[in-house]
Amino acid sequence: MTAVKLRKLCFRYAGSEKQALTNIDLTIEEGESVLITGPSGCGKSTLARVLMGLIPHSYPGELEGEAYVFDMDVKNTPVSRIATRCGIVFQNPDNQLFTFSVEDDVAFGPENLALPPDEIGRRVDEALRLVGIEHLRHSSPNNLSGGEQQKAAIASILSMKPSLLIFDEPTSMLDPSSSASLIERIFELKRSLDEAGGKTTVIIVEHRIDLLLKHLSRIIVISEGRVVLDGEPLRVLEESFRRGIPINIPPMLQIYFRVKDRCGLEKPPTTVRELICMLGGSVSRDG
Ligand SMILES: Nc1ncnc2c1ncn2[C@@H]1O[C@H](COP(=O)(O)OP(=O)(O)OP(=O)(O)O)[C@@H](O)[C@H]1O
Ligand SMILES: [Mg+2]
Repeated sequence: MTAVKLRKLCFRYAGSEKQALTNIDLTIEEGESVLITGPSGCGKSTLARVLMGLIPHSYPGELEGEAYVFDMDVKNTPVSRIATRCGIVFQNPDNQLFTFSVEDDVAFGPENLALPPDEIGRRVDEALRLVGIEHLRHSSPNNLSGGEQQKAAIASILSMKPSLLIFDEPTSMLDPSSSASLIERIFELKRSLDEAGGKTTVIIVEHRIDLLLKHLSRIIVISEGRVVLDGEPLRVLEESFRRGIPINIPPMLQIYFRVKDRCGLEKPPTTVRELICMLGGSVSRDG
């Protein structure tokens, strides 16, 4: 099934002269792991809002073209219905946690679906287990670290059993090591949901391309509200590099793109050590 289908999608925020999104044509199939990247202000969060139906239902403006998420037309489907298939984790988890305990936050979505209490209990248990925060069940979200809040926000989305998970800059509040473990956790989660018979689609807006690369099936680059590149991750990064599109291409890959033809390199290095070996240099034992 197709997860996302956008056709000639344009959006202009009310009061703004300029379109935030222009002529977006995009199809994302179920099960894909897609990075959306591009310079600040290019329209990534706006696109995420369209996929959740927050645009046009919560953000006034002018929406043209078509936007379907799992065959639901976002223009005339209530956000609450879209939220049964799509969950978003925002940049700032504070926006997403608003009760007095993690458990209540995670139960909030299923309660709004008016599910029976035993089903709500099962979903809360499973969501807490999947993100590894069972021990924080009774904690107040205010007393958690940024990383723990981030996990609680993810659990509060998972309890809705969404088929499409959208993360809008999930590591923006985290230090480098917590960022790396959050990214690993997101994709472990996808693997375990897929193993349990799901086909979870992950769309992630993120600048830390280095942490994500091995997990991605596709990269989409947006610039000034338009999709300028879309395809296989390495090809898209190389093209961005050649065109000078300002995205966060890992330095090791920038070196690889620069020298690969001249040095006859056939595949990209996965570590700095490998790169040095490929370039014919010698590295010390611990290098
Ligand atoms: N609520 C809003 N009202 C009016 N204009 C907005 C609103 N939100 C975003 N914009 C404008 O829409 C454009 C796209 O913004 P958006 O937040 O989607 O960019 P972004 O790619 O997510 O940027 P960042 O990487 O900084 O998060 C920008 O010009 C921004 O100023
Ligand atoms: Mg944004």
